[in-house]
Amino acid sequence: MEGEKMGIYVITGGSKGIGEKTVDLLRSHGHKTINIDIDGGDINADLGTPEGRAEAISQVHVLCPDGLDGLVCNHGIAGIPRFKLSYVLSVNYFGAVKIIEGLFDLLKMKSGKCVATVSGAIAYATRGRYYVDELLTNCGDEERICRLVDTFPLCEDGEIIYFSSKIALANWVRRIAPSWAAQGVNVNAVAPGAVATTIMHNFKRPVAESYYYPMPAMFKQGWTMDPADVAQALAFLVMPGAGGISGAILFCDTGSAALINPDKQL
Ligand SMILES: NC(=O)c1ccc[n+]([C@@H]2O[C@H](COP(=O)([O-])OP(=O)(O)OC[C@H]3O[C@@H](n4cnc5c(N)ncnc54)[C@H](O)[C@@H]3O)[C@@H](O)[C@H]2O)c1
Repeated sequence: MEGEKMGIYVITGGSKGIGEKTVDLLRSHGHKTINIDIDGGDINADLGTPEGRAEAISQVHVLCPDGLDGLVCNHGIAGIPRFKLSYVLSVNYFGAVKIIEGLFDLLKMKSGKCVATVSGAIAYATRGRYYVDELLTNCGDEERICRLVDTFPLCEDGEIIYFSSKIALANWVRRIAPSWAAQGVNVNAVAPGAVATTIMHNFKRPVAESYYYPMPAMFKQGWTMDPADVAQALAFLVMPGAGGISGAILFCDTGSAALINPDKQL
């Protein structure tokens, strides 16, 4: 875009789906992007492991010694039996928190902005004994929590662990936002509803039938959002125009969270 200052942005999970559209969008504004992904990234790393995270953080420091304008922490997985429950937490929660913390110094150098992709269902997920978001938020010990969740019965499908990881990530963003903003770094979250990407194949129920994803705007039409809709929200929050926004959870879900929870902001 004419007159816009070109920046350098890191996107995690930028090879497919929402992340790929975010890469396209940032590039269309003339920005440089670095995609960290387990598959097909500019940096290939498994963010579900400490070694993968360390490698990715170290490579970004080599590539961007003068700092980062933005970080879109978007990677994620869902569902069992494809993945161990603990791996879902390690990828979605610990993988996001550790990458964001590990790149904070580079964001601070340029007063950069950070956004994490959470889930619109955080606003209305039913809570029960296998939810571990409080443990993630209040204890935060990856090894111990992962050991615990792998003792959980698999009859409860992995959606509970998936939603736990996303609730905890949204809470983490809210908690760190004030102190990071005081250091010049904005951090927010985008909470999508049902988006037509491969991650949805790992949920047990077809999206159109799922009670987790009511679609008031297009009810009963089997409609899911386009990944480009969510990419717009993510890119907006890391680009220069969003200077004053920090600690926000932006629902990008065609009004589902508002329909279910009209009196609650989170
Ligand atoms: N699709 C939806 O309906 C929906 C709804 C709410 C939230 N989200 C969130 O949006 C984000 C993007 O999901 P999507 O729908 O585009 O799914 P997707 O499966 O199309 O993309 C996920 C990306 O993350 C990468 N990834 C997965 N595991 C990784 C790992 N261990 N290390 C590094 N990269 C890894 C994948 O390779 C892929 O490129 C996720 O955080 C997801 O939880 C999606």
